[in-house]
Amino acid sequence: MTPNRFAIFQGEIVSIEMAQISIMSHIVNYGTGCFGGIRGYWNEGEQQLLVFRPLDHFKRLRQSARMLLIQLPLNEQQLTDQLLELIRREEYHQDVYARPLAFKNSPLIGVRLHNLEDAYACFAVPFGRYLEKEEGLRATVSSWRRIDDNVVPARGKIIGSYVNSAFAKSEAQLNGFDEAIVLTAGGHIAEGSAENIFLLRDGKLVTPPITDNILEGITRKTIIQLAKEQLGIDTVERSIDRSELYVADEAFFTGTGCQVAAIVEVDRRPIGEGVMGPTVEKLREVFFKTVRGEIPCYREWCTPVYSR
Ligand SMILES: Cc1ncc(COP(=O)(O)O)c(C=O)c1O
Repeated sequence: MTPNRFAIFQGEIVSIEMAQISIMSHIVNYGTGCFGGIRGYWNEGEQQLLVFRPLDHFKRLRQSARMLLIQLPLNEQQLTDQLLELIRREEYHQDVYARPLAFKNSPLIGVRLHNLEDAYACFAVPFGRYLEKEEGLRATVSSWRRIDDNVVPARGKIIGSYVNSAFAKSEAQLNGFDEAIVLTAGGHIAEGSAENIFLLRDGKLVTPPITDNILEGITRKTIIQLAKEQLGIDTVERSIDRSELYVADEAFFTGTGCQVAAIVEVDRRPIGEGVMGPTVEKLREVFFKTVRGEIPCYREWCTPVYSR
């Protein structure tokens, strides 16, 4: 039994049991699709569910789809409206996570992107933490390298490429760590298995540029803006050496899944004092207020599900 009862499939909201694809589908055989991950946050005081930056998420999905020669059936606003309708049908009154999927669905043998049937689906489930230890993760630099833009573009959220993330994550966890940090083929820090990464050095945030094979994270963008506007902290986007991790004052991951998660140790070396640093703590506070709609100037990022 899944926790959700419905899904968007072939243009309609159907019962989850009806949203099925064939084992012959192109996506199953070749990983030819892309996906999104969108959170909705329950605001208890307002009795309202707020979906965080859905238009930005669907814009990125469209960009990923474009790379794969997939045509989305609707525009960003329509996809958002359809997602809100799905959540209403589920009658969720708690934090949720939505997973839109755009993929090649032709039942045939033959690896390519063109002349194939496109499909779109979306489901939403109740969701809490993606990473258990958001307040203090022990990370390790992976022996797996991040896929290069000329191999499979990391800026696209491409389903097949998540095998790269899975290799890194399992290696890290089977070796006793919580999360992996993956380097580019050139040896600079790219990101976590499903998170962007930031360091704090000398009072400034430092994060890899989008040309270092990272996903163009929406949480990353949010944090850069919140750090500047709410805490007066600038972010420098530049390539980062592996050893800079070891000497950073603070470090953290960002992502729709992990939200803002403190890294307290890398390769068995403590970051700062080996506990969540004060800047990460403040950023987490501002971030959670923002996503729950409690800071009026960022309220436009929060799309209400229910009419009140
Ligand atoms: C590889 C990778 N990097 C970064 C992120 C963070 O992106 P966002 O903040 O848009 O969720 C994700 C999240 O899905 C990811 O899979």
